[in-house]
Amino acid sequence: MKKIKAILIGAGLRGQTYTDYALDHPDQLEIVAVAEPIEDRRNYIKEKHHLDEAMCFEDYKPLLDLGKIADVAIICTMDRDHYEPAMRAIELKYDLLLEKPIAPTAKECADIRDAADRNGVQIIVCHVLRYTPFYMTLKKVLDDGLVGRIMSIDAIENVGNVHQSHSFVRGNWGNSQKSSFMLLQKCCHDMDILQWLVGEKCVNVSSFGKLSYFTKENKPEGAPSRCIEGCPAKDCYYNAVKLYLEDEKNDWFRCAATKKTAPTNEDVKEALEKGPYGRCVFDCDNDVVDHQVVNLEFADDTTISFTMSAFNKGGRDIKIMGTKGEIVGDMSQSKIEFYDFAARTWREIPVEAFDENVGHGGGDEGIMRDFIAYLNGEYTGKSIADIDISCENHMIVFAAEQARLQKQVVNLEEFKKSL
Ligand SMILES: NC(=O)c1ccc[n+]([C@@H]2O[C@H](COP(=O)([O-])OP(=O)(O)OC[C@H]3O[C@@H](n4cnc5c(N)ncnc54)[C@H](O)[C@@H]3O)[C@@H](O)[C@H]2O)c1
Repeated sequence: MKKIKAILIGAGLRGQTYTDYALDHPDQLEIVAVAEPIEDRRNYIKEKHHLDEAMCFEDYKPLLDLGKIADVAIICTMDRDHYEPAMRAIELKYDLLLEKPIAPTAKECADIRDAADRNGVQIIVCHVLRYTPFYMTLKKVLDDGLVGRIMSIDAIENVGNVHQSHSFVRGNWGNSQKSSFMLLQKCCHDMDILQWLVGEKCVNVSSFGKLSYFTKENKPEGAPSRCIEGCPAKDCYYNAVKLYLEDEKNDWFRCAATKKTAPTNEDVKEALEKGPYGRCVFDCDNDVVDHQVVNLEFADDTTISFTMSAFNKGGRDIKIMGTKGEIVGDMSQSKIEFYDFAARTWREIPVEAFDENVGHGGGDEGIMRDFIAYLNGEYTGKSIADIDISCENHMIVFAAEQARLQKQVVNLEEFKKSL
C-alpha cells in the first residue's frame, strides 16, 4: 500500500484526531504541512509530525499557494470555513478528507460536488458513523436480509444534555449564523446513515422542532451571566465551574474551552472568565433547536421517524422493523439484538470489539483506515461514500430544515429542482 501524504487545514479537535492516525500508522499516512492560526495547535502538529517551520502556516491560503504538495488535503476548519479551502484545494487536484457538513448551504454543497466531478478528485466526507463496528454490522445484516424487507425505522440521536450545553449552547455550534443549523451540523450523520441502511432514495420529509429550554426565560433567578461569578442555582447541571474547572479529566471540554492542547487550571479559569464556555447556558447567543423530529418516506415505502433531543444521557438508539423480524440497537453499548419472527426469540448479533478510547465508537480511526485503502484502490468495504452520495444525503437535511421552518411536507425532487 502506498503511503498517503497529507496537508492539514484547521488543527482543532477534529484535525488533531485524524492526523494522530499518522502517528500510529506512519507507513500509511504522513502529514507534510499544517495551516492553523492558533499557535498552540499549530505547534502541536508541527512537533508531533516533525514539520519544518516553513511547512507551518497561520492560514490555508499561503499553504495552497504552494500548489499541490501532497496527495490529500484534510479540511477540518469550522462549518462556514469549509467551502473556500475545499474549492481551492479541488482546483489544485487534491483529494479531500472533508469534515461535515460539506458546507452550510445546499448550493455550496452542490458546487463542491460539481467541482470534484469536474476535476476528477475524490472527496470523502467525515461521516464517521459509517466506519463504526456498530453501524457496519447493522449494514451487513440488513443487506444479508436478516429482517427481510425493511418497513419502518425509529432512530434517536440522544445528544446528551451536557453535550448539548457544551457544543450547541455555549460552544462553536450554538449560533447557526456562526456555524450551521442543528440538523445539518449534528444530524447530517443520521440522515446519511439512515439512507445508507435503507439503500433507497428518500422522497418526502417533514419536520418539527424548536429551541425551547436553553433560553433566557429559563434563567434561574439571580443567576449571573457567568457561572464563575457565583451562581445561586447550586444544583444546576450546567455549572461551568463544575464541568470545566473541577472535572479535570474532561480533556474534550477543557481543550475546546481554552483552545489549548494541554490546558492548566489557570487557562481554564481564564476561559470561564472571558470566553464563551463560561456563560450561563440560559444567557447565550444560541439559536439552534434543542429537540427536533424528522419523518422520512423512501421510494420503496420504508418510513423513518427520527428524533434529535438534548434531554437524555447521550448515545444513539435504533429500532429497525422488517417483514422477518425486528432489530434493536444501542450504539453507546455497541449492542444489537434481533427478534426473529420464525423462532419467536431474541438473540444478540455480535458486534466486532473496538477500542473504547478511540473516538466516535471506532469511527474516527475507521474512516482513516478505509480512506487510505480507498485511495490505494484496495478498499472492499461498504462504508465509503463518494461526494455524490454525501451531497445527496445532505439534501435530505436541507429539505428537512425547510420542512421545519415552513411547516410543510417537502418533496426531495422538487426541493432539488428549486435550488
Ligand atoms: N465528523 C464528526 O463527527 C465531527 C465531530 C465534531 C465536529 N465536526 C466538524 O469538524 C469541523 C471542525 O470542528 P472542531 O471541533 O475541530 O473545531 P475547532 O474549532 O476545534 O477547529 C477548527 C480549527 O480551524 C482553525 N482555522 C480557522 N481559520 C482557519 C484558516 N483560515 N486556516 C486554517 N485553519 C483555520 C481554527 O483556528 C480551529 O483551530 C466542524 O465543521 C465540525 O462541524 C465533525
